[in-house]
Amino acid sequence: MADKVKLVGFSGSLRKQSYNSQLLRECQRLLADVADVHIFDLGSLPFYNQDLDGNVPPVVMDLANQVRQADGVILVTPEYNYSYSGVMKNMLEWLSRQCTGAPLNDKPAAVMGATLGAFGTTRGQRHLRDVLFSIGVRAVGKPEVCVSFANQKFDANGRLTDQPTVDFMLQHLHQLVAMGRSS
Ligand SMILES: Cc1cc2nc3c(=O)[nH]c(=O)nc-3n(C[C@H](O)[C@H](O)[C@H](O)COP(=O)(O)O)c2cc1C
Repeated sequence: MADKVKLVGFSGSLRKQSYNSQLLRECQRLLADVADVHIFDLGSLPFYNQDLDGNVPPVVMDLANQVRQADGVILVTPEYNYSYSGVMKNMLEWLSRQCTGAPLNDKPAAVMGATLGAFGTTRGQRHLRDVLFSIGVRAVGKPEVCVSFANQKFDANGRLTDQPTVDFMLQHLHQLVAMGRSS
């Protein structure tokens, strides 16, 4: 059997009961046979400040090294005001800079998100995909994973109960794994 791929996962919500964080943990569970997914807490990153380009904080350099050594990343974001979340953007600023080695450049990425509303982060993901293109991330395309009405799709243990959503996720994630293996 092929070695497991190494992935770093990010949730764009810091909320304790976040559906997006639950979705990310479901990615980790669904991929358990083929990937090791390390979940990084975006709340631990300082705000990006260009004054720090010559003195990058250790927590940022540690993350940059993790991402450099990973075969891919998983980005799971809520939609905030028709865009993706600020903590996710903050991470992208840091990891797009030469001072961190720009480790996201050419990195495969899964992109998904969950909302309470009907549109399932479609607008937020559109913004996110534009930014990923600008920093050279190779984002998985279709099927897009846009989880609407998230409060109806997880059980009390954080398991996704909606089989069509699970099927889309698996198709999306297995493309990431294939890209990770060939990169
Ligand atoms: C600041 C803010 C802005 C939001 N904007 C949107 C939005 O534009 N579209 C949407 O569908 N939901 C929006 N929501 C609702 C989120 O979908 C909902 O809070 C969701 O649970 C957030 O994800 P989480 O459960 O991972 O924290 C917004 C929520 C917050 C707190």
